[in-house]
Amino acid sequence: MSTRKPRNNALLALMLAVASFLSISAIVRTALGAEIVVAEEEQLRHGKVLYASYCSGCHGVNGDGQGPAAAMLIVKPRDFTSGLFKFRSTPNGTLPTDADLMRTITRGVNRTSMPEWSLLPERERMALVQYVKSFYPGFAESGPGRPIFIPAPPATLGSPESIARGRQLYEMLECGRCHGPNGLGDGPSAATLAPDSWGNPQKPFNFTKGALKSGAAPEDVYRTFMTGLNGTAMPSYADVFDEPDGENVKPGDAWNLVSYVLSLRTPSRPGTQVASEEGAAVNAAYRGDLARAGYTAPLPEPAQAGANKESKP
Ligand code: HEC
Ligand code: HEC
Repeated sequence: MSTRKPRNNALLALMLAVASFLSISAIVRTALGAEIVVAEEEQLRHGKVLYASYCSGCHGVNGDGQGPAAAMLIVKPRDFTSGLFKFRSTPNGTLPTDADLMRTITRGVNRTSMPEWSLLPERERMALVQYVKSFYPGFAESGPGRPIFIPAPPATLGSPESIARGRQLYEMLECGRCHGPNGLGDGPSAATLAPDSWGNPQKPFNFTKGALKSGAAPEDVYRTFMTGLNGTAMPSYADVFDEPDGENVKPGDAWNLVSYVLSLRTPSRPGTQVASEEGAAVNAAYRGDLARAGYTAPLPEPAQAGANKESKP
C-alpha cells in the first residue's frame, strides 16, 4: 500500500486545513448541490465585529439607539431593543423577517442618516441581520410575523381611472388627516401627532417630494400602507383591503390607492425616479441575497392570496 500513503498524507493535510477553516469561518457543504450552512455562533461573532465598526456609532453598542452620533441626528437611530420595527412585510405589531432587515440594511433609509450598505458583501449584511436580531429576545422566542401576500400589480396601475379611484379611497380613508388633502404632509392632525414610540417627533410624509423611506416601487407603497409603520402614527389598512365589501372598497382597490399616491410624486425632481428604479431592483434581488449569503433556515412562507387576515397576530 505504499502507493497510497502520499495520497493519504495529502488527504490528511487537506482535512486539517478544512478543519481549521471550519473553526474560523463557516461550515461549507458542497456535496449535494452546493448547500451552505453557516454556523450560527460564528455568524453572530462576525456580526458583532461588523456592527461595532459600522453601526454602533449611531445605534449604540447595546443596540439601544444611543450611539455617540445619535444626539446630533434629527431622525433618531432605531433602538433595536424595543422590538418595534418600521419597515416590514409582516402584519402590524409583529417582527420583521430576515429579508425585511436585509432589504433595509441593503437600501438604507431615504431622507435619514441611515446609510445604504449595498457594497458590503451579502454574507456580512446577513451576519449584521442576525446580530441586530440578537438585541431583542422576541426574535428567538416567537420569530417574525408572516409576510403579507402582495399580488402582482395590475396593468391598470397608474392609469387615469386608477388614479381617480385612488383619490376617492384617499379621501374615504382619510389619509389626508395626516398627509394633507393634496398629500403635502400638512393634514390637520400633522401638527398635533404625539411623539412616536421612541419619544421622538414624527411627521407624515409629503408625497410630492423627497424619496420614500422604504422605497418608491409600487410594491413598497402597497407594503407600507398594508402593514403600517410600527412605532409611528402610520396605521395598517390591511383590515380595509383584505375584506372588500364590494361597495365602499372593491377588490383591487389597494393598487388604485398606490396609483394615486405615486401620481402625487414630481417626476421632474432629480433623484426621485432613479431611486425608485434602484429600489425595485434591490427589492427583487433581496431574497436571492439571502440564499447566496448562506441563509438556510426556512423563511416564513408569504401568505396566499386572500389569506392575509389569517396572518394577523
Ligand atoms: C449615521 C447613522 C447610522 C448608521 C451608521 C447606521 N444607521 Fe441604521 N438607522 C439610522 C437611523 C437614523 C434610522 C431610523 C430611520 C427611521 O426611523 O426612519 C436607522 C434605522 C435602521 C434600521 C431600520 C429598523 C426598522 O425600523 O425597520 C435598521 C435595520 C438599521 N438601521 C440597521 C443598521 C445597521 C445594521 C447598521 C450598520 C451596518 C446601521 N443601521 C448603521 C442611522 C444609522
Ligand atoms: C394618523 C396619521 C396618518 C394617517 C391617517 C396616514 N398616515 Fe401615512 N404616514 C404617517 C406618518 C407619521 C408617516 C411617516 C412615518 C415615518 O417616516 O417614520 C407616514 C408614512 C407613510 C408612507 C411612507 C412614506 C415613506 O417614506 O416610505 C406612506 C406610503 C403612507 N404613509 C401612506 C398613507 C396612506 C395611503 C394613508 C391612507 C390610507 C395614510 N398613509 C394614512 C401618518 C399617517
